[in-house]
Amino acid sequence: MTPTGVWRYTSGMFQTIIEPFKIKVVEPIRMTTQEERQAVLRQARYNMFAIRAKDILIDLLTDSGTAAMSSEQWAAMMRGDNAYAGSNSFYRFEAEVTGLTGYAHIIPTHQGRAAERILFSTVCGKGQIVPNNTHFDTTRANIEHTGAEAVDLVIPEGKQPQARHPFKGNIDLMKLEALLKEAKPGQVPLCMLTVTNNSGGGQPVSMQNLRETSALCHRHGVPLFLDACRFAENAYFIKLREPGYRDKTPADIAHEMFRLTDGCTMSAKKDGLVNIGGFLGMNDAVWAQQCRNLLILTEGFPTYGGLAGRDLEAIAQGLREVLDEDYLRYRLRSVEYLAERMTAIGYPMVQPPGGHAVYVDARALLPHIPPNQFPAQSLCSAFYEHGGVRTGEIGNAMFGRTENGEEIPADMDLVRLAIPRRAYTQSHIDYVIEVAEHVFKLRESLRGFHVIEQAPVLRHFTIEFEPIP
Ligand SMILES: Cc1ncc(COP(=O)(O)O)c(C=O)c1O
Repeated sequence: MTPTGVWRYTSGMFQTIIEPFKIKVVEPIRMTTQEERQAVLRQARYNMFAIRAKDILIDLLTDSGTAAMSSEQWAAMMRGDNAYAGSNSFYRFEAEVTGLTGYAHIIPTHQGRAAERILFSTVCGKGQIVPNNTHFDTTRANIEHTGAEAVDLVIPEGKQPQARHPFKGNIDLMKLEALLKEAKPGQVPLCMLTVTNNSGGGQPVSMQNLRETSALCHRHGVPLFLDACRFAENAYFIKLREPGYRDKTPADIAHEMFRLTDGCTMSAKKDGLVNIGGFLGMNDAVWAQQCRNLLILTEGFPTYGGLAGRDLEAIAQGLREVLDEDYLRYRLRSVEYLAERMTAIGYPMVQPPGGHAVYVDARALLPHIPPNQFPAQSLCSAFYEHGGVRTGEIGNAMFGRTENGEEIPADMDLVRLAIPRRAYTQSHIDYVIEVAEHVFKLRESLRGFHVIEQAPVLRHFTIEFEPIP
């Protein structure tokens, strides 16, 4: 950490953030006029999910499934073997994942939430509890769907946007111990740790916290699973911030992380560097057999799990590439640079920046818009209207709820700028910063929204808004 409290990821004498790759294939993106974007927003009822990709210049809605694949991944895809059973591609995929994680059983799935559904429908039920640092929304929903309870136990700093802590994704071990002590035998089928902690701002978990969580869970006979979507970014944060890891490779650190646990769910759409795919890994042979039976019912035979052979090949190659140190250094520094520049403009940002995204505290930026008028939604609309940049609302539209007819607002109104992997260049990031600067100057003129249509669950995907005049 530098004396100013900032972690710096560049090394050597030059400060320019350079992409450790060159471009072989390009995809045009389209500049539109402000009038066109105003019309698009009206038609989309101001919901970012309802905007068509052709109308977006820079898409920062998500880092999931949006990575650019490498020439080696495309080459590997040509080797894809689509045999229904025993495909060659499966065995290459399995060898790569086993080498990385050390788990005895590897089960491919079409994406992360499929792994979650299969795991939780197998091991959870009514009256059970699954603790985590912070459950991602699909993880929580899949646990609750079985009748079990999903409990978030992140450390207090993890809930304070401005608190600077190197590992804000850590689980609170005292709270976890209290929960495990109080639980009846068998009531906690497993404990999870999400690395990095997406819903908490992409914040990492330290190896020490992983080690202590593992020991605590095992003392209570509870298996520990990783939600491993961003394992490589977490590993690099450990290298940069945790004593004793500076000289280790990201691969060594990742191996150590996985080997402290008994299994994982994985969306390969993040650190697998692919556009679709995931897997479930575990050591327990009985659970694995039950999961495979369910997989056959809904995803496919256990040697393809809902994926084509080429997808398995691309994941195997992606998992190797994501641990490249030059890539990880560039990745984390590029995200940090965006957060630094937005902070310098005056945006209240979640600090320190996470691995895959930066988050603006829209409630603090727009105090004239109360939470029930969706300040984060207002900022998302402004980024799109003025610069063609799509961002994501993580606030009242996503987490607000109604209980007994009463509106309960979300704890925070954040706007997430998630950075797709290897898809945009530093000049795209500089363009986003220029748009941010422009929108910042207009902040006092931004207006709130009210809802005209919404679904009873996961309303943010289809919610419709109208600006308040
Ligand atoms: C931490 C975390 N877990 C699980 C998932 C679900 O993965 P998928 O979108 O592949 O179903 C996501 C997706 O964003 C995630 O960020």
